[in-house]
Amino acid sequence: NIVKDSTMDSLIELLQKKEFKNIIVMTGAGVSTAVGIPDFRSPETGIYSNLGKFDLPHPEDMFDIEYFLYNPQPFYTVMKDLLPKKVKPSKTHYFIRLLADKGILLRHYTQNIDTLERVAGVPEELLVESHGSFHTAHCVGIKDKPGCRKEYSREFIREKVAAQEVPYCTECGGLVKPDIVFFGEELPQKFFDCYYEDFQKCDLLLVFGTSLKVQPFCNLIDFAKIDTPRCLINNKLAGVTGHPRKGFDFSGSFQKYRRDVFYKGNCDDGAVILAKHMGLEEELNELVNT
Ligand code: OAD
Ligand code: ZN
Repeated sequence: NIVKDSTMDSLIELLQKKEFKNIIVMTGAGVSTAVGIPDFRSPETGIYSNLGKFDLPHPEDMFDIEYFLYNPQPFYTVMKDLLPKKVKPSKTHYFIRLLADKGILLRHYTQNIDTLERVAGVPEELLVESHGSFHTAHCVGIKDKPGCRKEYSREFIREKVAAQEVPYCTECGGLVKPDIVFFGEELPQKFFDCYYEDFQKCDLLLVFGTSLKVQPFCNLIDFAKIDTPRCLINNKLAGVTGHPRKGFDFSGSFQKYRRDVFYKGNCDDGAVILAKHMGLEEELNELVNT
């Protein structure tokens, strides 16, 4: 199962032989832009390029727990775009679901919080929502006063946000924050429980739509074994920090090895090409059209 070189053709050759049984799929915001949810770091359209009105020291502060407790407004304002009411998953989401149906998805590690993988039907046990999700929310208190951790539903938050109100806890007055992982917070336990064994077992790593800039998620790609093909499907190269021979730290970067294949283009186009060569194109179309 070793790719001959870094070309899509050599990966396709292996896909056609149906060699892969333990596929890990990693995703970022680029898999949801096709259905109208903005990503973070794309120039002009990304969320971080559109925060001027909030006068934040750094765009990432919007997702920083300390900053949130001090000023939750930017987060709740932007959240409206991140939590649209009626959004259908993208072809890429359905492709991942199809891999699960075929029993060849070992795990899906997503950074996304839009829950579209759940909507597409990726089974919960195969899913690691590495940055949490909007599924539930908890009271986190306010600056200098810890919250009571009371649980709230997604609907509670949605209603408040729609009415342009900040959601406060009905018990203690703390801020109610969706259970998405902010900078300064731990990733879910499931991430740490699963990744090491999963990546040892992984025989193909597919990475869709991420800039591979946020740790520890981006470092996962380094845990794949040395002969495991890694394919990045993204509209630009991601995670590169330097030239391999010049002694740069290359953790979390693509194109470090010959087994790294880069498909430069749309996630959904990449998913269709992969599906086609795995003999799954028709089934993918059926899923997408249901
Ligand atoms: P980014 O916005 O950093 O990266 C998205 C990548 O997808 C970029 O390289 C885009 O060029 C690319 N892209 C966008 N649309 C695409 C498409 N249709 N086809 C192919 N490529 C496309 O988003 P993430 O890498 O997901 O954290 O960001 C990681 C984390 O940073 C997020 O989870 C979020 C953010 O801070 C938290 O919220 C905690
Ligand atoms: Zn409370």
